[in-house]
Amino acid sequence: MNTPETADTAFSALIRAASQDGHREANTSGFITGLLGGRLGVDAYTRYTEQLWFVYEALESAAARLAGDPVAGPFLRPELFRLTALERDLAHLRGPEWRAHVTALPATRTYANRVRACAEKWPGGYVAHHYTRYMGDLAGGQIIRDMAERTWGFTRKGDGVRFYVFDAIPNPAAFKRTYRTLLDGIRVDDLEKQRVIAECRRAYTLNTAVFRALGEEFPLSA
Ligand code: HEM
Repeated sequence: MNTPETADTAFSALIRAASQDGHREANTSGFITGLLGGRLGVDAYTRYTEQLWFVYEALESAAARLAGDPVAGPFLRPELFRLTALERDLAHLRGPEWRAHVTALPATRTYANRVRACAEKWPGGYVAHHYTRYMGDLAGGQIIRDMAERTWGFTRKGDGVRFYVFDAIPNPAAFKRTYRTLLDGIRVDDLEKQRVIAECRRAYTLNTAVFRALGEEFPLSA
């Protein structure tokens, strides 16, 4: 089905436009502004990194199975994978026994479960989550890395901030262009595109809920 909204506009532009409110809400959350403003400590950053591990575990444990899927498969580029980097960061932040100590906040569990459900049953929904995370990490994530290096003295692009370092992507701008081309060529009809966009909005809501929970755990001092 062609809707007037989707008929002529590139899908990458539609999904980007549709997610602007969600983006604003997520990146102006108290937790993120507190983090970027230097008002939260490395313990808050560590807890956030733990939460990311649960989300990427859900995203990337499905990757091998989805690699041959006509809809999700083209997006599964190994140079994006973040789990190994997150694990190195957590070993640095929490010590070699980090696995015994990390826990998912309820909001994180809800988010990871939704990613896993999409990975199992709905490749288009999986693409929505893939886009929301990796394109964000390639863009705004760099601002977090810069802050973390300056504030807590991590080695530039080293342990503690490896999550934000895409070693295998020398030219992020070119990569993002390629990714948008993949979005534009996604092999679904227009109705399904609308569903993917709705799932992207949901992904932002899930992220905002994690930030809210982190904000409750790490309230900003007045
Ligand atoms: C630290 C907070 C954040 C900052 C400062 C930030 C900043 C940015 C910037 C500067 C861009 C590039 C816009 C452009 O290419 O013109 C971007 C894109 C993006 N961000 Fe964020 N962001 C933040 C948080 C988030 C979060 C929490 C998510 C979702 C989980 C997210 C998802 C995205 C996505 C998907 C894009 C790509 C949009 C597109 O080009 O299609 N961002 N962000």
